[in-house]
Amino acid sequence: MLGAFAKSRLSLLDSFPFQILFQSHSTLLLVYSFILLNLIPIPPFCIVLFSEITDTFVPTCPSMPLGERVDCFPDSGASQEICQERGCCWSPRDESNVPWCFFPTNYGYTVESQETPNSYAIKAKLTRMESPPLFGQHIKELAIDAEMQTKNRLRFKIYDPNNKRFEVPHEHILSLNPTPSSPINNTLQITQKPFGLTPKGMGFDTRMAPIVFEDQYIQLSAKLPSHNIYGLGEHVHRQYRHDTNWRTWPIFTRDAFPNGVNTPAPAVTYRTIGGVLDFYIFFGDTPEQVVHEFLELIGKPVIPAYWSLGFQLSRWNYGNLSIVKETVERNRAVDLPYDIQYTDIDYMEDKKDFTYDKVKFAELPQFAEFLHEKGQKYILILDPAIATSKRVGDALYESYDRGTAKNAWVTEADGVTPLIGEVWPGEAVFPDYTSQACIDWWVDEYERFYREVKHDALWIVSQF
Ligand SMILES: *[C@@H]1O[C@H](CO)[C@@H](O)[C@H](O)[C@H]1NC(C)=O
Ligand SMILES: *[C@@H]1O[C@H](CO)[C@@H](O)[C@H](O)[C@H]1NC(C)=O
Repeated sequence: MLGAFAKSRLSLLDSFPFQILFQSHSTLLLVYSFILLNLIPIPPFCIVLFSEITDTFVPTCPSMPLGERVDCFPDSGASQEICQERGCCWSPRDESNVPWCFFPTNYGYTVESQETPNSYAIKAKLTRMESPPLFGQHIKELAIDAEMQTKNRLRFKIYDPNNKRFEVPHEHILSLNPTPSSPINNTLQITQKPFGLTPKGMGFDTRMAPIVFEDQYIQLSAKLPSHNIYGLGEHVHRQYRHDTNWRTWPIFTRDAFPNGVNTPAPAVTYRTIGGVLDFYIFFGDTPEQVVHEFLELIGKPVIPAYWSLGFQLSRWNYGNLSIVKETVERNRAVDLPYDIQYTDIDYMEDKKDFTYDKVKFAELPQFAEFLHEKGQKYILILDPAIATSKRVGDALYESYDRGTAKNAWVTEADGVTPLIGEVWPGEAVFPDYTSQACIDWWVDEYERFYREVKHDALWIVSQF
């Protein structure tokens, strides 16, 4: 259920890059954070010398269970010397994966001041304690805004109050209509030095390690009361319940930062290299209740067509439509459970979107009907990049021309020159789906093509 839930979330709300679902005996909570995606990896090796601080800063390194160590050296090349320059604790171990360089307990931020604008909200100002930075350019002052938005929803946001940083737009949360009924101090406890957050009774406890908030490195760790961790963005799930043995998971569609590390405490560490920390915690007694709370915030997912959950057959390069039909008939003849047939972009004329090969796929306009006769469906594949070249016989490629006329393409930094790349059809431009002109162009092209080639759905391949 949770996997399906994550998928529908992504289709609705693709700007939310990170989630983790956590379950304990009687309480289940969903921690959902908005951590922006970033494109710059951490430098693999980075030495920062701040001798005036290292001279005076002495890390406090009490003995702690190995599973509670939070890695102070997520990059590579740790040594005692560099670890200590970072103000962290160094203690090599034989056990694999246990960090040798880990955060001390006298690191992070302290609460400078705190106010309660009303009984449902807390605002606090944080100041960084003197200690060397991890990667440089730490942000000295932070603000935290926490509020009980409903009886079962706590939001907290940690940000730089002095400089606006990128935040994931919340345009999909139009209906945010807080109806708090429970004072925040019944739910949230803030620890002053070092700063930490503990939603009461939930076992989500950020006191296990300091918050790191630097210009290009942000980290928050939280101890969890159970190993039942589900969710965590887009990656291959070999099992629904996550492995907490020092596993690092990329978040959302990138195989890189930001990420979440599950550690044996059990705990999770969120890392990203930009933006702010913006968390929603949902409380509920059952998984269904937590999902309900989540949907109250983001809206209900689209229910997929029942047939789209069926068995599907797709391949690249059938060669021509006769071979596709033979394939369909061969599989029907052996009663293969078989609901959907695809054609990949070889149905197109020179791999150009919104065209079909008038020789090899001459009868494509009727193909959906051929499938429908036996209760099957037809899905077309399409990649968004649009060829800049002419069509067969030097004919105009009208989809491209109409898009150009509407300035539908992603541009270079000048905001005018279309960005040119090379994709399946060769030289190509890229629709800028953030512009209304592009959306209008796309809808129009799609309607035109649909009138030509009937089909039941489109598979839009997202990588260029
Ligand atoms: C919560 O805050 C209110 C004032 O807003 C105070 O009267 C009450 O004692 C506090 N409760 C706890 C558990 O701290
Ligand atoms: C389809 O391709 C097969 C295999 O290449 C070929 O034998 C057949 O003649 C082709 N059919 C059409 C209609 O092009």
